[in-house]
Amino acid sequence: MTIKTVVLPVAGNGTRMLPATKAVPKELLPVYDTPVLQFALDEAVAAGAERIVLVSHHSKAAIEDYILRGEELAETLRQKGKVSLLQRLEQARVPSNIDVRMEFQDAPKGLGHAILCAKDACLPGPVGVILPDDVVMGGQCLAKMARAFDPSRMQSLIASLEVTRSEISSYGVFDFGDNDEAYPRRAQGFVEKPSADDAPSLHAAIGRYILDDCIFEHLARTDVGAGGEIQLTDAISACGDIFAMPIDAPRFDCGSHEGLFEASQYQRSLRTAPPVLAIAAE
Ligand code: G1P
Repeated sequence: MTIKTVVLPVAGNGTRMLPATKAVPKELLPVYDTPVLQFALDEAVAAGAERIVLVSHHSKAAIEDYILRGEELAETLRQKGKVSLLQRLEQARVPSNIDVRMEFQDAPKGLGHAILCAKDACLPGPVGVILPDDVVMGGQCLAKMARAFDPSRMQSLIASLEVTRSEISSYGVFDFGDNDEAYPRRAQGFVEKPSADDAPSLHAAIGRYILDDCIFEHLARTDVGAGGEIQLTDAISACGDIFAMPIDAPRFDCGSHEGLFEASQYQRSLRTAPPVLAIAAE
C-alpha cells in the first residue's frame, strides 16, 4: 500500500537530553556522524512518501535550516573540490520530488495533538508517522509496514517490540488478549503508559505508525489522557482494528543519553575506515 504522507513530530523540547538540547534540537544531535532526524527522513523516503510533514516548534529554527538550507555550503565545497564532503551533504538532502512541509505545534499538548497539527498538510489516504527519537537501523521499518498494511481490515499498523516489565510503563502497550496469530497481529486494546502491574502485555509500541486518515476525526475528539496530554494511543484505540508488527532491526531510544550513545556505537561499527580516511585527506 502506498503511503503518500509521512508525519515527523519534532516539536518536543528534549528535556531528557539537557543541557545538550538547550540550544540544539534533540533531533539534530549526532548518531556518530548522522543527525537523529536524518534517519527519519531517509526512512520516510524509503517508504515512498510523496510528502513529508514536520510538526515543529517556532523555537527550533535549526530543524528548518537543516532541511531547507545548505545550497551555499554546497557551492563552497564544489568550488574547493571537496567531493566527498559534497557527496555527504547531497546524501542528506531530501529528494527534490518530495514535498516537505512545516507545521507548528506551539503548545506541548502531546503526541496526539502534534499529529492533529499535521492534518491540513496531509494528502488523502493513510498516513505514516515516524517518531525520530526511535531510531530503527536499516531504514526500512516504515517501508515494510507499508507493504503489510491492509486497509480493508486495519485502521492502524504499529511497530512493536517486547520490552522488560521495568520498561513497559514508558510505552503504549498492546493487549493481545488470547490472540496468538501471526504478525501483523490484531490487538484488542492499546493503552498509553500503564503501570508495570497493569500492563496488559510486554509488547510496546515503537515510534512507527500507519494510520487510516480517520485518525484525525478521533484526535479532534480525544481528551487529555496519560501525563495530561492528548495521546495518539487513545485516538488509535477509539478507531479500533489495531494491528502490531514487530521490528526486525536494532532500535535505539535516541531521546535518552544511553540510547544515543549506543546508537552512535552501532553506527560507528557500520562505517568502514576508507571513506573516513578519504574525508580526512581532503
Ligand atoms: C510515545 C508514544 C508511546 C510510544 C513511544 C515510543 O511516547 O506516546 O505510545 O510507545 O512514543 O517511543 P513518548 O516516548 O513520546 O513519551
